[in-house]
Amino acid sequence: MTFDAPTVIRTKRDGGRLSDAAIDWVIAAYTDGRVADEQMSALLMAIVWRGLDRGELARWTAAMLASGERLDFSDLGVPTVDKHSTGGVGDKITLALVPLVAACGAAVPQASGRGLGHTGGTLDKLESIAGFTARLSNPRVRDQLRDVGAAIFAAGELAPADAKLYALRDVTATVESLPLIASSVMSKKLAEGAGALVLDVKVGSGALTASEAQSRELAHAMVELGAAHGVPTRALLTDMNRPLGATVGNALEVAEALEVLAGGGPPDVAELTVRLAAEMLELAGIGDRDPARALRDGTAMDRFRQLIAAQGGDLSVPLPVGACAETVTAPRGGTMGDIDAMAVGLAAWRLGAGRSRPGHPVQPGAGVRIHRRPGEPVAAGEPLFTLYTDIPERLGAAMAELDGGFSVADTPPLSRPLIVDRIAP
Ligand code: URA
Repeated sequence: MTFDAPTVIRTKRDGGRLSDAAIDWVIAAYTDGRVADEQMSALLMAIVWRGLDRGELARWTAAMLASGERLDFSDLGVPTVDKHSTGGVGDKITLALVPLVAACGAAVPQASGRGLGHTGGTLDKLESIAGFTARLSNPRVRDQLRDVGAAIFAAGELAPADAKLYALRDVTATVESLPLIASSVMSKKLAEGAGALVLDVKVGSGALTASEAQSRELAHAMVELGAAHGVPTRALLTDMNRPLGATVGNALEVAEALEVLAGGGPPDVAELTVRLAAEMLELAGIGDRDPARALRDGTAMDRFRQLIAAQGGDLSVPLPVGACAETVTAPRGGTMGDIDAMAVGLAAWRLGAGRSRPGHPVQPGAGVRIHRRPGEPVAAGEPLFTLYTDIPERLGAAMAELDGGFSVADTPPLSRPLIVDRIAP
């Protein structure tokens, strides 16, 4: 059977169902360039509106997985496990979590992505370290897993369909779609060859899903996809109404992850790191190891340094900081109220931490530092946020995004659980 892009787009645009063969064709043809970006953009937008049913999602994911190689580390002699987040604001968890789990005895092949929409990407963060490269060949990933126990690398070679779709979604406002998120996450996670998978599915204003119900649906869909491909998968639903930690932006977040690896850091970042590590270790069959101890005794930090050095990074070079800074001060005294994750994420994006054209570089030193967390006392006139960028013209738009995204009140905001739920098959 022959296919053409306009017919496939029209079928989905009009609410029809894509056949297995049409899905296989369109993913393969887009990956090798026979379907153009503008055609795939139209199809993605149709999927944002019309969705994919369970059967279509399973096939779409399988077709993305089949676009590249699937790694196999079953001969490595240690359990392999990985984690993936559906994307958040200030979500630097992977940076400390990967070496932490490696320090506890599991190998972690972490195929990562770049920033997506208002959410940050692990690769953009790590590339703010001088010399760091995320471009590892598959044999090099294997060598590094054997020597260091962990590798964080661009997924491109493994799920090339996702690499192209991910970059296109980022700049065509087609990120926020349950089947597109589920297939993107699971195609690269299944391809990377981890024996088990823990997902951090975000819930709240800064998440890519619009409601808690949608986050739950996304978690269930991904857990099901993992099981269907023989990879034990579970998910935590975690709060993303507020940014995680006290920094949003690439280099700023690396610095905060280093604090966590040194046994400190903001309590929410440290708590989620340890909890996800415990889930990963349990799923890997070594649940008796204590991740909190590996943070305290420095073994996780040692592993992070080894990982960065193995990928060419030089931690002795100071992390970049945006050349221009502007501070937002408290309009009154009181208690810091809620801080809206979406407002801070968009502010960081406007400052240059994310991209608006495919393939454009991000500013490693751009971002937002949060000086007062929700519930902390605030004195009138004291700094609440510092905004950093290399391009001063961007400060105005970023300040406008932040406006209305926080409050100083007389009473503390409602406390929110960081871990909302746990979804297992
Ligand atoms: N993470 C991914 O890898 N893909 C998405 O679509 C969202 C988060």
